[in-house]
Amino acid sequence: MQRSDTPDWLNPLIAVLQQAQAGLLRALHGLGLVQTVDDQPAWPWALRLSGDNLLIDLGQARGLLWSLAALAAATVLLVLVPWLRRLRWPALGMALLLLMLAPWPRADLILVPARPTSLHASPTGFSVESIAHGAQVYGRQCLACHGADGRGQGPLAARQSVWPPNFTSPLLWRRADGDLLWAIRHDPRPVQTATGPQAHGQAGRLSTEDAWALIDFLKAQAAGQMLQIAGAWPYPVGLPDMDVRCAGQPVRRLHAWQGRQQRLRLVAGAGEVQEDPRLVSLQLQPGGQAGGAALDCLVTDPRAWQAMALLSGSAGLQGMQWIGDRRGWLRALSRPGARGWSEDDLVCRTDTASQAPAGPAADGLGALIARMDAEPVRFVKGGFVH
Ligand code: HEC
Repeated sequence: MQRSDTPDWLNPLIAVLQQAQAGLLRALHGLGLVQTVDDQPAWPWALRLSGDNLLIDLGQARGLLWSLAALAAATVLLVLVPWLRRLRWPALGMALLLLMLAPWPRADLILVPARPTSLHASPTGFSVESIAHGAQVYGRQCLACHGADGRGQGPLAARQSVWPPNFTSPLLWRRADGDLLWAIRHDPRPVQTATGPQAHGQAGRLSTEDAWALIDFLKAQAAGQMLQIAGAWPYPVGLPDMDVRCAGQPVRRLHAWQGRQQRLRLVAGAGEVQEDPRLVSLQLQPGGQAGGAALDCLVTDPRAWQAMALLSGSAGLQGMQWIGDRRGWLRALSRPGARGWSEDDLVCRTDTASQAPAGPAADGLGALIARMDAEPVRFVKGGFVH
């Protein structure tokens, strides 16, 4: 959750660090200098840059910002040196001085251990297919230790030398997806299975595709559990991708609307519901059936019901509604039987709410939309969220 004292430049700074190292990896891969692991270029070093500690130590973050500015200035000076005749030596000295005097942050604060897959990005697009696939694999390979609800209380949990983590914690959001992939497929640390000790990483039994699907499932499951426990999400959760059909049109993917910056509303069940010009409304029915649909657009994927139940931490979906914002984050949830929307339905919020401009709002939904637009999610993995 974003602290109100977070400076605006911190998230972009962390994003720049991440993009810089991803760019470096792409360049190395382009030159054929790095291997491919799990279908993507492998990070070749034992350390990588991480913004996590900068969030805690603002002084170091400020130091890094100044140092990057000094580095940029020094680079400009060095590039100009060949053209600076008499000023050549002063320019060189100045560049050197800038680099020496810059308040470089402590290396052990911005460098963290890296795995070959640390920078890997998920190819799934967070879809209901992949959540459903992950659910199946989880039941077979993970549940015994991690438990039916992901809180680490499975039947084999007590036999482990370390207790399996509780996924209703920041873990899945703070770890890089690539580090989760490594834990699932390659982590050599031994765990006690029903048939004896075995490495935690299950590359021998799980494909890369299985592992990415598991990560989507784990996040959906944790989101639902957190909603049950706390009533809100401390980390933003995306509206999963799914097949949708609107009257008289071919089936298309829900994420196609995000490219067009549309707000979406999902309505579960066949109850009374009306279109609203402020959102694209989609009807979700168990099994993807069309019977009794009151809306023009219908979710056709039979796995969507299950995925939304998991994400919401509730099997009683009938009458539930969700709103996704223009960028595809799930922002609000209204429970069955609720009368209209209000700002209290926000499930993904910031603690800066009181500072949000209170615009003239005609109704609950208007107020909710105004609030969502005024406080967009600014998610940077490893940085502050919301
Ligand atoms: C035999 C027990 C067992 C099984 C089976 C198992 N895990 Fe784990 N898992 C653990 C334990 C114990 C830890 C904690 C390890 C530690 O922190 O040293 C752990 C840690 C993790 C972590 C956290 C890694 C991190 O970076 O902190 C993830 C993610 C995870 N498991 C996912 C899975 C998935 C997905 C499966 C199924 C494919 C699975 N595990 C199967 C016991 C198990």
